[in-house]
Amino acid sequence: MAFRQIGVVGCGLMGSGIAEVAARAGFPVVVREVTDELLTRGLERIDRSMARGVERGKLAAGDRDAARGRIRGTTRLADLAACDLVCEAIIEDMDQKKALYRELDGLCPPETVFASNTSSLSITEMASVTRRPARFLGLHFFNPVPVMKPVEMVRGLQTSDETLALARAFAEQVGKTVVACKDYPGFIVNLLLVPYLLDSIRALELGLATKEDMDTAITLGLNHPMGPFTLLDFVGIDTTYYIAEAMFEEFKDARYAAPPLMRKMVLAGLHGRKTGRGFYEYPAR
Ligand code: CAA
Repeated sequence: MAFRQIGVVGCGLMGSGIAEVAARAGFPVVVREVTDELLTRGLERIDRSMARGVERGKLAAGDRDAARGRIRGTTRLADLAACDLVCEAIIEDMDQKKALYRELDGLCPPETVFASNTSSLSITEMASVTRRPARFLGLHFFNPVPVMKPVEMVRGLQTSDETLALARAFAEQVGKTVVACKDYPGFIVNLLLVPYLLDSIRALELGLATKEDMDTAITLGLNHPMGPFTLLDFVGIDTTYYIAEAMFEEFKDARYAAPPLMRKMVLAGLHGRKTGRGFYEYPAR
């Protein structure tokens, strides 16, 4: 059995990207947001991203129209009942995720596979509120989803081999390179990335150099596409903060403790590109 229809819960930065790559690969997709306004915004994000794909010569206009035609937006979770794979990309909050999975578990047949796009929360814990822990895994995509190649495939304590094989086939069909890992806070990328980003903020706090010079040092010195402050603004300072908090909660290790400046920026609403200001300013497009 392979997946035929894909459900996506959440049409924010990550959910819209997952819906886009699945539709571009030929899957019918149902994407759910909580309000009509958020849904419209999410679908517009998909339209903009696919238009960029066409402009950059990555996607033919006809294929774009066909892919867009395969995406159906809804505000009703029940509309995902016929999907074989449901990818969840809602806020990184364990209680909200558990509430969603309890509801989905009642709506979807037992064979449906659930995949969380969480970047740091426990797959095993989310799966524990469902009756399908064997059919539950993590599929963690990277931002921007249509451009970034990897998907972290996370095995919970009870995830079955069959579920992993189906999920791997799906991720490869949507053009991704699968890296497999166990259910451990931060998985591969964030376990390594988050301490680096937090250390960059600590270096700024202690006055090592300007943020501009640190970004330049990393882009030119390590050939990274973005330095740490540009990347923090890109990923979202709030998002990185929540990931760091989840890791600190688990390990109680100072490496994962959010520096005071970061906490203040989150409280002040300086979350990066999405709010127009983070470490840098982003004039409204
Ligand atoms: N569909 C298909 N291809 C697209 C596209 C779309 N919608 N939009 C852009 N592309 C392609 C472009 O054609 C281009 O391809 P080529 O190199 O073959 O020409 C490529 O993607 C790059 O696009 P741009 O030229 O428009 O943009 P850029 O060169 O300025 O790069 C960037 C932008 C890809 C974001 C780059 O700056 C980058 O890689 N930054 C780092 C991103 C990163 O680290 N992401 C991970 C964040 S961590 C995370 O997500 C996990 C977490 O849990 C926090």
